Amino acid sequence: MSDFEEIINTRRSIREYSNREVSDGDVLKIIRAGMQAPGSRLGAEPWEFIVIKNSKTLDKLAEIKPRLSTAPLAIVLIANIERAFFKAVWQQDMGAAAENMLLEAVNLGLGGLWNGVAPDEERMAKIAEIVGISDITNLKPYCIITVGYPAEGWENKFMDKFDESRIHYEKY
Ligand SMILES: Cc1cc2nc3c(=O)[nH]c(=O)nc-3n(C[C@H](O)[C@H](O)[C@H](O)COP(=O)(O)O)c2cc1C
Repeated sequence: MSDFEEIINTRRSIREYSNREVSDGDVLKIIRAGMQAPGSRLGAEPWEFIVIKNSKTLDKLAEIKPRLSTAPLAIVLIANIERAFFKAVWQQDMGAAAENMLLEAVNLGLGGLWNGVAPDEERMAKIAEIVGISDITNLKPYCIITVGYPAEGWENKFMDKFDESRIHYEKY
C-alpha cells in the first residue's frame, strides 16, 4: 500500500486524546494542508484558521461541542465571506480544507475529528462569540477540527466503507 492509500484508508474519527502536546510545527503542517485544498476560485478561498490551545477556551467550546473535552488543541475553521469570489459555495470550500487537514493529521501520526458547526446559526454564533467574532455575517465558523495523540482505545485503523451498489455507470 502506498503512504497515500494507508492514510486515506486508515483515517478514523478520533474523539478522545491523550494529554501529549502537539508540536507547533505539526499544527502548521495541518493548516498548510488545509490551504492546499481545492477552492471554488484560486486566490479567493474563504478559509481562515484560529488555533486554540488555551484550556479555558477549549472548555468553553466543549460546552457546545462535547468532543472537545479531551483535545489538547482545536482549530476553528472560519469562512471569511469577503475573501470569497463564489460566495454561495463557501461550505464546499471549507469542507475541502477540513478533509485535507484530517488526512494530514493522520500522516503526522495524530488523530483528528471534524466537529460540525455550520449551518446551525445558533451554534455558529455561540462559537463565534467564544473566539472573538461579534457578527457571523461575514466571518462564519464552519467546523472545529480537534487534533491530538489518540487516547488509549482510539486509533486510526482500516474500516471498509466501500459499497459497490452505490456506483452507477453512464446513467443512474
Ligand atoms: C459535516 C460533518 C460533521 C461532523 N460533526 C461531528 C460532530 O459534531 N461530532 C462528532 O463526534 N463527529 C462528527 N463528525 C464525524 C463523523 O461522525 C464521522 O466522520 C463518521 O461517523 C464516520 O466515521 P469515520 O470518520 O471514522 O470514518 C462529523 C463529520 C462531518 C463530515
